[in-house]
Amino acid sequence: MATKPNAKLTALIKGLNEDLAGEWQAIIMYRLYASMVQGPYRQELRNFFASEIPEELLHAEMLADKIAALGGTPAWQPAPVKVVSDPKQMLQEALKAERETLQRYVVRRKQAEEAEQYGLAVDFDELISDESNHRDELEQMLARWP
Ligand SMILES: [Fe+2]
Ligand SMILES: [Fe+2]
Repeated sequence: MATKPNAKLTALIKGLNEDLAGEWQAIIMYRLYASMVQGPYRQELRNFFASEIPEELLHAEMLADKIAALGGTPAWQPAPVKVVSDPKQMLQEALKAERETLQRYVVRRKQAEEAEQYGLAVDFDELISDESNHRDELEQMLARWP
């Protein structure tokens, strides 16, 4: 008896791969910005950008593991990275990426529940919390940026 392909699961895997490409993007973006940032705030911004990487790497690990466990092939290509040289623009690009990621994760959490992947839905709580904190810090830094 042929098993009917589960459309909800297929769509979920596709979405998770979009998320994974976003995490690869975040890792590369933060690494590039940490290396490239110049000016009076270099030391602080370099440390800040670099400090984001371990969490984004954990997100990528979680997503890749889950995609593989659901029978998919994890994405190996990052979403496009915006390379900029101005420190303020770096923060703005990072904030834009974090906001977009957060929006996607709220949608994905719901999608996971609808596909009856309840454990995954709960995992997204942690990701949503992490990305909210990333967004908040970037907003705070930009709030009084000259
Ligand atoms: Fe992330
Ligand atoms: Fe993030």
